[in-house]
Amino acid sequence: MLFLFQLAYSVLWVSLYGKTSAQLQAAAADSPQFTACPAGTNLIRPASVSSSGPTQQSLSTFESKYISTRGTTVLPAAWASYFNTVSSYSRAHGLSSQIPAYVSQILTSHAPSVFPRLGVAASGGGYRAAIFGAGVLDALDSRNATSNMAGLGGLLQSASYITGLSGGSWLILSLSQADFPPLPELVFGPSQPGSKPFDGWNAQFDITQAGGTNASLTAAYISTIIQEIVGKAKTGFPVTFADVWARALSRHFVTGTRGDDISTFFATNVTHGAGVTLSGLTGLSTFKSHTQPFPIVLADVLSSNGNKSNIFNETGIFVPLSNTIYEFNPFEFGSFDPMVAAFTPTQFLGSPNNSICVTNFDQLSFVESASSNLFNEFNTSAEALQNSPIGPIIALLNASIPQSPAVELDAASVPNPFFGVPGTQGFVNLDAEEKFLKLVDGGENGEIDPLQPLLVQAREVDTIFAIDAPADNADNFAEGFSIIASQQRASLFPSVYSFPPVPTTVSEFAARNLTKRPTFFGCNSSTSLHSLHTPLIIYIANGAPPLGQEPLTNTATMQTTYEPEQIRGMLNQVFDIATQGIPHVNQRTGTLEKDAEWPVCLACAVVDRARARLGVKRSGICASCLDRYCWS
Ligand SMILES: *[C@@H]1O[C@H](CO)[C@@H](O)[C@H](O)[C@H]1NC(C)=O
Ligand SMILES: *[C@@H]1O[C@H](CO)[C@@H](O)[C@H](O)[C@H]1NC(C)=O
Ligand SMILES: *[C@@H]1O[C@H](CO)[C@@H](O)[C@H](O)[C@H]1NC(C)=O
Ligand SMILES: *[C@@H]1O[C@H](CO)[C@@H](O)[C@H](O)[C@H]1NC(C)=O
Ligand SMILES: *[C@@H]1O[C@H](CO)[C@@H](O)[C@H](O)[C@H]1NC(C)=O
Ligand SMILES: *[C@@H]1O[C@H](CO)[C@@H](O)[C@H](O)[C@H]1NC(C)=O
Ligand SMILES: *[C@@H]1O[C@H](CO)[C@@H](O)[C@H](O)[C@H]1NC(C)=O
Ligand SMILES: *[C@@H]1O[C@H](CO)[C@@H](O)[C@H](O)[C@H]1NC(C)=O
Ligand SMILES: *[C@@H]1O[C@H](CO)[C@@H](O)[C@H](O)[C@H]1NC(C)=O
Ligand SMILES: *[C@@H]1O[C@H](CO)[C@@H](O)[C@H](O)[C@H]1NC(C)=O
Repeated sequence: MLFLFQLAYSVLWVSLYGKTSAQLQAAAADSPQFTACPAGTNLIRPASVSSSGPTQQSLSTFESKYISTRGTTVLPAAWASYFNTVSSYSRAHGLSSQIPAYVSQILTSHAPSVFPRLGVAASGGGYRAAIFGAGVLDALDSRNATSNMAGLGGLLQSASYITGLSGGSWLILSLSQADFPPLPELVFGPSQPGSKPFDGWNAQFDITQAGGTNASLTAAYISTIIQEIVGKAKTGFPVTFADVWARALSRHFVTGTRGDDISTFFATNVTHGAGVTLSGLTGLSTFKSHTQPFPIVLADVLSSNGNKSNIFNETGIFVPLSNTIYEFNPFEFGSFDPMVAAFTPTQFLGSPNNSICVTNFDQLSFVESASSNLFNEFNTSAEALQNSPIGPIIALLNASIPQSPAVELDAASVPNPFFGVPGTQGFVNLDAEEKFLKLVDGGENGEIDPLQPLLVQAREVDTIFAIDAPADNADNFAEGFSIIASQQRASLFPSVYSFPPVPTTVSEFAARNLTKRPTFFGCNSSTSLHSLHTPLIIYIANGAPPLGQEPLTNTATMQTTYEPEQIRGMLNQVFDIATQGIPHVNQRTGTLEKDAEWPVCLACAVVDRARARLGVKRSGICASCLDRYCWS
């Protein structure tokens, strides 16, 4: 699970001198600014409404408006178009007559109160998880004719929310900020290089060792990056390894870097994505037209008051499940967890009080970095950190930008908007006395699939499409740990979150092949007496190669360079994983084949909560599909 990389050279110090931060476009663009707050600014929004029953949480008015407007202006046509795709597929495969009428009734209702609310979650796992997630999203994308033929296209367009953490945050935030292009264009850049602002992921350049085998080139690269964060340091904010990591990620997942060759990738006269902010996503055309799903990214926090007895039961877990999970979205930063239950405007992240507002702190690359910063895992002792792959960069950072010893260099430092804010419902705000939140990789508590935001009752999510691609085992495949952790975490806050029953051990996942085929969890939860709404989970893991193929999708989390050909091979295989369903052996040829009913079964699961709302019984192919795909 560790995100390692090598930095095996000693010439790091050389090229630091002679270049000044003032020459770098990025240094200015990366700096937060202090301004007078607009009249009436309140930096804290309580998100918990007290009442006698289950806790009522409230969304920001901006998010509510985004979701409801998307519901009335975009989703009616999106769901109807998805239904068309499923019906064409069914006709072509002779399945039409078995589809119960309620599927069409729901999907073509054009009524937001009738159709389901869908959220998609993209897990962590470095570049591998970003690629795996991109492949699944492409299979769900109505702009891809192959995906429509396969009967899945259109679900991406029909989703209300999309969440990501770590490698999954790179995927969903790069997709959002590039104005929601088709996935191949996102990953590889536009077919006409330079014809669109975003030039693709530039994965052929290593995230940190960007000079490849040329160590002095990499040294120059790292020193440039450190110069780029000097602007932020000069404004008085702590800078840490996470700021260095942010500037490196920015060259891959934020608009501003051309990857044509080494000279464009290393250009010092462009901003390399500095200045692109999370709150700025609201100005994009696909955001203003509500045509992209609402993006949410997670990070964990290192709390000195954390309860160590709630560490999830897996090696490499550093953050107790009971620590607060913070979410970033274009409008707000904060948490629905009862320990905090409060939010602050993303645009003003870093602000000291209601009169002086900070802007430009919410750099998109910094959010991607906070969500994927697991380098604190090297810090088991000062010496271990020093000898770790990031030791030389930490040393260079520390020597270049002297700061108070109180600054913890291995975590992302965010001025704590919730300083002094009490907890709710008898829960203690673990960070109430911390001036700075120390944010780390959103998967460090073991919950590597970002399901948490989709369990928030006020979001009314019916169906979660969970994409899970962590390296749970030595072969870099998923084994189900993440879902088990989600279950355990939700059970710590029973009045706030409701999670469907899932296996409690990875051996149950293994025995039933649950990571090797799509699985539905919570098929019958809506009929339980539980007072909170429980989403149905459609779980697709990177658990094994599809259809008996040679595996391509289980690259190491530490692999941070990919040639386009390798990514293409992985994406093709992910397409098969997303479209195979529960494969079966063809008796005549002896080969593994896709389940022809899978696209219809998927539609049955997608509408199942909406079906229950209508008070209609499961029937036709939907009854047999759910029997086959549900875990019980
Ligand atoms: C559609 O998906 C297929 C299968 O992954 C992929 O090969 C193709 O490039 C995609 N096409 C477009 C236009 O996105
Ligand atoms: C490494 O990069 C530097 C700077 O671009 C260049 O001068 C040098 O020739 C390169 N070294 C090798 C071995 O390619
Ligand atoms: C940066 O420099 C390159 C080569 O020196 C030049 O081609 C390019 O136009 C410059 N870009 C900007 C934004 O100034
Ligand atoms: C820590 O967690 C354990 C297990 O959930 C619980 O029994 C204990 O009371 C907690 N300790 C504190 C100080 O909250
Ligand atoms: C707000 O913060 C600024 C900058 O830290 C400080 O100078 C000012 O006194 C604060 N104002 C109030 C009302 O606390
Ligand atoms: C940072 O530099 C200071 C002063 O030179 C030194 O005391 C401290 O140990 C350094 N910290 C790290 C993490 O290298
Ligand atoms: C390593 O962890 C310790 C304890 O949490 C912390 O005080 C220290 O600042 C960390 N070191 C660095 C360089 O981040
Ligand atoms: C917890 O750890 C033990 C021992 O390593 C292992 O047998 C068990 O399967 C783990 N439980 C879960 C839920 O992963
Ligand atoms: C799991 O998959 C293997 C082959 O990959 C198959 O032999 C076995 O029957 C499957 N088990 C279940 C419970 O489906
Ligand atoms: C859900 O309920 C139906 C009808 O009561 C039953 O046939 C099915 O086995 C149940 N499925 C699960 C996964 O519990």
